[in-house]
Amino acid sequence: MTDPVDLASPALTLSDIDPNKPSPARIYDFWLGGSQNFAADREVGQRIAEAMPHLPIAARANRAFLSRVVHHLVADLGITQLLDLGSGVPAAGNVHEVARAHNPEANVIYVDVDSVAIAHARSLLEDLPGCEAILADVRSPATVLGHPLLQATLDLKQPVAVLMFAVLHFVPDEGAPEEIVRDFMQATVSGSYLAISHGVPDVHDPGTQQDAADSYAARTGIPFVARTPEQLSTWFTDLELMPPGLVSIDEWMPEPLVEPRENPLIYGALARKS
Ligand SMILES: C[S@@+](CC[C@H](N)C(=O)[O-])C[C@H]1O[C@@H](n2cnc3c(N)ncnc32)[C@H](O)[C@@H]1O
Repeated sequence: MTDPVDLASPALTLSDIDPNKPSPARIYDFWLGGSQNFAADREVGQRIAEAMPHLPIAARANRAFLSRVVHHLVADLGITQLLDLGSGVPAAGNVHEVARAHNPEANVIYVDVDSVAIAHARSLLEDLPGCEAILADVRSPATVLGHPLLQATLDLKQPVAVLMFAVLHFVPDEGAPEEIVRDFMQATVSGSYLAISHGVPDVHDPGTQQDAADSYAARTGIPFVARTPEQLSTWFTDLELMPPGLVSIDEWMPEPLVEPRENPLIYGALARKS
């Protein structure tokens, strides 16, 4: 008999959390109106929101986009397994909630590098078999894909939806985001999907966006890299882009009566692996 894998190991300790160092996960939580953030997160989040008031609005629009994509994947395309990379602090409309509203059997793996995000996710998922949260870095696809919790929860011989919402703009070009996308999709079978949302350049006020990105990087230690839709489109070349293509997230299967904003700041797409 093989040794049982201790799925709870390694235990997550919160001792390495520095409340004085703002984190992208907690700043985003602040913009969404969540409570899992510290004074340092709120101070940076507030300052950036004052310079770019449309950013918290874009964060909420991104959550709505995530919800529409997951609904479409599970309700219309029959997806039952989802891998949410850079999942963030749990917020309204978490992937497992949207997915399980349509299919209670759907399995979900959350992955984030932020301890607060994963600790909170784990407490939320405690009594939900088939939903797990992993503390890991998406820049190491092999580590994520080989994690015992992922291996025990997802069957990679069946289609999986790989979700990368608002995470790859934290990976600079030196981190080869295109290769990260490719490595995750290479581990999936035909019929799998890739969903991405990503910050784009602010064509109306590039200077303010650059200043905000610089101050964000100075405080969090994490760069923010806006990429043009043309740059992002190269990540989908081996995949079949689903309608309406790579567009502003407001334009992706919009809710009726929602007017696309003039300056959405985030683009997104869903693509299928043939
Ligand atoms: C803006 S939040 C997006 C959360 C969620 N995906 C959404 O769209 O609502 C970005 C998340 O990516 C996480 N993140 C950034 N870099 C990461 C990395 N290298 N590996 C894993 N997670 C990362 C952050 O900790 C944060 O929780």
